[in-house]
Amino acid sequence: MNLYDEYFLPHFINCACGMKAIERQRAKMVPMAKGKVLEIGMGSGLNLKHYDAEQVDMVWGLEPSAGMRRKAQANLDNTSIKVEWLDLPSESIPLDDNSVDTVMLTYTLCTIEDWRAALLEMKRVLKPDGQLVFSEHGQAPDEGIQKWQRRVNPIWKKLAGGCNLNRDIPSLIASVGFKIDTLEQCYVKGPKIATYQYFGTAHG
Ligand SMILES: C[S@@+](CC[C@H](N)C(=O)[O-])C[C@H]1O[C@@H](n2cnc3c(N)ncnc32)[C@H](O)[C@@H]1O
Repeated sequence: MNLYDEYFLPHFINCACGMKAIERQRAKMVPMAKGKVLEIGMGSGLNLKHYDAEQVDMVWGLEPSAGMRRKAQANLDNTSIKVEWLDLPSESIPLDDNSVDTVMLTYTLCTIEDWRAALLEMKRVLKPDGQLVFSEHGQAPDEGIQKWQRRVNPIWKKLAGGCNLNRDIPSLIASVGFKIDTLEQCYVKGPKIATYQYFGTAHG
């Protein structure tokens, strides 16, 4: 791990993911979580303040980056939600089958290298009556914007910790057998190549 990944990137991700337009998406989606929650790529813990403490028993915060876990400390100090770190990538989740009520996936599917293995793991650990709640950015609908997303992606990916601008989020989720129950999509405020949002819910 180099200095960029360890110190600068957590700060950059915390700022980018803390933008107002993204905060508004979190405020809509995160309160849907209940029971035992698995947060995929918890990052700096920006979702913590949006959980409904009456509905959530605990959160497993899966986060492979030590720098991000360190950056999350301030948000951990300010929540009553019980959080247990899982310091591993989501391609191999150290939880039992059918053990999670809510999988929370926010602004992380863009970054997971082996997204298929990770989604299969999320499906495995989710209870049959559990819910995947997602809010992600991804491929824009306009051909002109898609062209720029493809052009910029290689350099963006290097600078932004492996984040891809142009993943077709609902297709990836559905491709492993999740059934999408609700889906909304729109641009939010900001540069169009990075702000097309997909948010909704799915079950296994
Ligand atoms: C853009 S940040 C989003 C953080 C957080 N989910 C949020 O909503 O603010 C992406 C996060 O995914 C984490 N990550 C990268 N690869 C991962 C993997 N294979 N499995 C799980 N998390 C991963 C990164 O360390 C980073 O914290």
